[in-house]
Amino acid sequence: MKPIYLDHNATTPVDAEVVEAMLPYLNVKFGNASSVHSFGRDAKVALENAREQIAQIINCEPSELYFTSGGTESDNLAVLGTAYHLKNKKNHIIIGATEHHAVLESAEYLAHHEDFKLDLLPVNREGFVSPAQLKELISEQTALVSVMHANNETGTIQDIGALTKVAHEKGVLFHTDAVQSTGKIPVDVKQMGVDMLSLTAHKIYGPKGIGALFIRQGVKIVPLFYGGSHEKKRRPGTENVAGAVGLAKTLEIAIKRMQADFDELSKLADYFIEKVTASIPDVHFNGSRQSRIPQTVNLSFEGIEGESILLALDIKGIACSSGSACTSGATEPSHVLTAMGIDKVVAQGAIRFSMGRSTTKEQLDYVVSVLMEEISRLRELSPVYRKGK
Ligand SMILES: Cc1ncc(COP(=O)(O)O)c(C=O)c1O
Repeated sequence: MKPIYLDHNATTPVDAEVVEAMLPYLNVKFGNASSVHSFGRDAKVALENAREQIAQIINCEPSELYFTSGGTESDNLAVLGTAYHLKNKKNHIIIGATEHHAVLESAEYLAHHEDFKLDLLPVNREGFVSPAQLKELISEQTALVSVMHANNETGTIQDIGALTKVAHEKGVLFHTDAVQSTGKIPVDVKQMGVDMLSLTAHKIYGPKGIGALFIRQGVKIVPLFYGGSHEKKRRPGTENVAGAVGLAKTLEIAIKRMQADFDELSKLADYFIEKVTASIPDVHFNGSRQSRIPQTVNLSFEGIEGESILLALDIKGIACSSGSACTSGATEPSHVLTAMGIDKVVAQGAIRFSMGRSTTKEQLDYVVSVLMEEISRLRELSPVYRKGK
């Protein structure tokens, strides 16, 4: 069997139509969008068309959309940029306890180096934060709240509208990391009521190295880079025109396919969860069965470290992830799962299977058969698995 890729939350292959749309802006219309000659003008037109198209999809004005190098940069710009702007007036920041490292470490930097007080908004067993708890944490000093839309490890989808309402009642800005949700479920900045939103292309069959940050008109941030007037001085640097065109095309395709992909992935994920839990004892589903991006299936196999399972599956041609892809290599259990109150040992046995457009039922049947063999073999070797249960 050909290798099976079940790590779509880490990244995805680029859609052929996206490559086709980008290609002219790499080799023919390659101009610098800041140049005044015809090459530059062609590039500028493509850049602004892409901006318009993306703005329409997330329901904002093109002037509110800033191209970046991806989710990490957008998150950093939102968190640090807002904090630096407000730091002489406010010094408190609240983020979800299960945020991606791009938000988490930006906020931790502020706490360690800029005298900010950082509060982590707790989550329940399924990974949901509570608007009431957010209300309690907000103070006169709160500069920003950042809570992600869909979690990268569990897929849990937060009710962002309910959270922005609480933040705005108290006059506090709200950022959401929508890297894992944009293009998979509806993302409408007006309906969500967010002040800032991060998105990226490579999680939805677009190229790596391009993303965007929505910044609502009137919201002020300090840039992180200096050196040019690109992106209205908020993100200087020669624009990635091919990337922007690719991002627009990626989103156009994702929107067209959204419902069909959602339905198909829900069916496949349900099938997989039922089959794994019926075939292997002591497996726990982590997250919410009801409200999650369906391609994400996070399962803990008691008594075995996720890394061992990951390697065993890799040898059999199956690619998945233990914890977040960005932190793989770390042996500590995922901060997402421990924040959800999952026992450290159970969290250590977690594997994230993330499905995509190429995933088939036949592939999943094969994965289950490999899991049955490998989990039983690894448990035989495990000093912690309670044998004879
Ligand atoms: C939720 C979330 N935020 C941010 C990022 C970082 O995005 P990028 O890889 O585009 O920098 C990721 C990628 O893993 C993610 O899953």
